[in-house]
Amino acid sequence: MIRGEKVRLRAFDEGDVELMWRWANDWEMGRWMINRYPSPRSAEREDIREMMKLEPNHKVFAIETHEGDLIGGCDLTHISWEDRRAQLGIAIGDKARWGQGYGTDATRTLVRFAFEEMNFNRIQLFVYADNARAIRCYEKIGFLHEGVLRRNVYRDGEYVDAVAMSILRDEFMRASNAQQGKV
Ligand SMILES: CC(C)(COP(=O)(O)OP(=O)(O)OC[C@H]1O[C@@H](n2cnc3c(N)ncnc32)[C@H](O)[C@@H]1OP(=O)(O)O)[C@@H](O)C(=O)NCCC(=O)NCCS
Repeated sequence: MIRGEKVRLRAFDEGDVELMWRWANDWEMGRWMINRYPSPRSAEREDIREMMKLEPNHKVFAIETHEGDLIGGCDLTHISWEDRRAQLGIAIGDKARWGQGYGTDATRTLVRFAFEEMNFNRIQLFVYADNARAIRCYEKIGFLHEGVLRRNVYRDGEYVDAVAMSILRDEFMRASNAQQGKV
C-alpha cells in the first residue's frame, strides 16, 4: 500500500463494486466527471475486473482512510514511458469527505509515487473550469495552469471550458523539500 498522511492507496477488489456503482450513478459526481449515462452494476464489476488485470499503461488505485474506509479512486492514464509522462485523474466518491483534505493528500501521494517510484517527469491533468474545489486542490500541490480548452464539454445546457494543468518532477521535489525544511 502507498501511504499518505490522511489516506492510503491500494488496489481495487471485487468487494468495492457496490460503492463504485453508487458513486457512478451520483448526479453531483457525474457533473464533475461527466458520467452522462446511468451505469449498471455489471459495468462497474467489469471495470473493476479490468482494473485488477494490472495493465502496464493504466495504473488505478482505490483511496481509503487510515481507518480502512473506501472513499474514492485515482489513476494514471495516457502513460508515455519514453516521455516519462502520465495523466492524473481523481474522485473522492464519498461526498461527506469533500473539503477535508483527503483529495489533496491522495493527489499528493499519487504524484509523489509517480515521481519517486515510477520515475515520471511530468504529470498532467484536465479539469473543468468551474470545478473550483478541484483546481484549488491541484494548486496547493504545485500544479500550474497551462492553458484553456475552450468549450470543451457540454453540460447542463451549456459549454464549459477545461483547464490543462501540470507539474514537473523538479518543481514537486523543490516544493516538498521546502515544506520539510530541506535545502
Ligand atoms: C476534487 C476533489 C478530488 C478534491 O478533494 P477534496 O478532499 O474535496 O479537497 P481538499 O479538501 O483536499 O481541498 C479542497 C480545497 O478547495 C477549497 N474549496 C472548496 N470549495 C471551493 C470553492 N467553491 N471555491 C474555491 N475553493 C474551494 C477548500 O477550501 C480547499 O482548500 P484549502 O485547503 O486551501 O481550504 C474532490 O472534491 C472530488 O472528488 N470531487 C468530485 C470529483 C472531481 O471533481 N474530481 C476531479 C475531476 S478533475
